[in-house]
Amino acid sequence: MPELSVIVPTFREVENLPELLERIHGAVLLAGISCEILVVDDNSRDGTIEACDALRRRHPVRLITRTTERGLSSAVVRGMREANGEILLVMDADLSHPPEKIPEMVSQLRKPGIDFVLGSRYVPGASTDEEWSLFRRMNSLVATGLAWPLTAVRDPMAGFFAIHRRTFAEHEALLDPVGYKIALEILVKCRCRGVKEVPIYFADRTKGESKLTFKVQVQYLRHLRRLYDFRFPTLANFLLFALVGASGLVIDLVCYSAAMGIMSKGPARAIAIWIAMTWNFAFNRNITFAYTRDEDILSQYGRFCLSCMLGALVNWLVSMSLVTTLPWFADHALVAALPGVAAGLLFNFTICRWAVFSGGEPTPMRVVRPEETVPSLTTSATASLAATKSSAKSPASQRDSIRAEETSTEPADGNNRFAA
Ligand code: GDD
Ligand code: MN
Repeated sequence: MPELSVIVPTFREVENLPELLERIHGAVLLAGISCEILVVDDNSRDGTIEACDALRRRHPVRLITRTTERGLSSAVVRGMREANGEILLVMDADLSHPPEKIPEMVSQLRKPGIDFVLGSRYVPGASTDEEWSLFRRMNSLVATGLAWPLTAVRDPMAGFFAIHRRTFAEHEALLDPVGYKIALEILVKCRCRGVKEVPIYFADRTKGESKLTFKVQVQYLRHLRRLYDFRFPTLANFLLFALVGASGLVIDLVCYSAAMGIMSKGPARAIAIWIAMTWNFAFNRNITFAYTRDEDILSQYGRFCLSCMLGALVNWLVSMSLVTTLPWFADHALVAALPGVAAGLLFNFTICRWAVFSGGEPTPMRVVRPEETVPSLTTSATASLAATKSSAKSPASQRDSIRAEETSTEPADGNNRFAA
């Protein structure tokens, strides 16, 4: 079993593969690290299969061709699943990430307490070729800034990193990445604590094209939403709860003014409050606390109405005590209403989160089923993959599972092969 698995996601990178493999292999040989290289290609049809066939005579390379899925992050996860090494290192194929840094990253990861090593562009000693336009730099700055509350690393956008296989194995079921930022996903979801950033020289690609499209950037926003939900589930719930509350206020006022046209103020006010409350309930049950939708709706509704009334009482008590105890607020009663609203909102949220919508957990674990990862596997192959995942991974059973895919995937273009 090799100590290191280098995982390289590729899409149309055939021109870069010979130099990449040469340099990875050279660097690890020099450092005396046993290594396998896994190229996870999304059916590029650019000669990647033939190139890997030829290159595997000289280098320990394996090719996994995916035909049913696309995307950098999911390709990396797939590579990690198939890897045999104790250390999993991920890098781009376009030679932006210097293979010569691999031994240093491996030796950092071997140190006790380190569970994530990142090839970073933004630590002392790092440099970059990138001659970005102002727009691209701003873009990168905003993207990095948005991830700031999630992790303390300087370059969370990087795609050059190494982890222990056990870190991946223990958290695999939580991983659900969209788009490009697989390092960020792992940093957040695997709760990596001992993180070491190693400075790198980030070279511009000279061959092939970047695949960073507008769509990938939109995916990044979706990915961030999920990571925030994961990392700060209560905060994410609270913001949604407040948003629903604000929409309820609008409904309340609209209904109140409409109802006053057909009845007197007293019943009109009561009906408007009831409609707004029911509106808030529907949105909180279906969006904010959607994970509790299985609970009995009537009992939940009853508890929700009760919590709204208690929230209103807290709101009233806070505003009134400000008005009666502080003379300034007596002259500015409307201003005194604001802390009341805030206190009522917090109180109401607390009750809702823990006593009304209390079943289940905010971020349900996503369990990846074998058939979900490799949709085209036959039943026996699925069973073999399940066995591979549940038992300690033996290289033999793993090879079987990959071969099974090779034989059962639709050979649309006769292209789907596995080079061991
Ligand atoms: N399998 C697979 N599927 N691989 C892909 C896909 C895909 O859909 N899209 C891109 N890749 C591979 C590329 O072939 C390359 O090896 C690597 O992922 C990075 O893609 P690039 O197109 O070179 O991305 P980039 O240079 O814009 O982004 C790089 O820099 C970013 C920071 O600026 C990557 O390292 C990112 O991870 C990094 O965030
Ligand atoms: Mn690149």
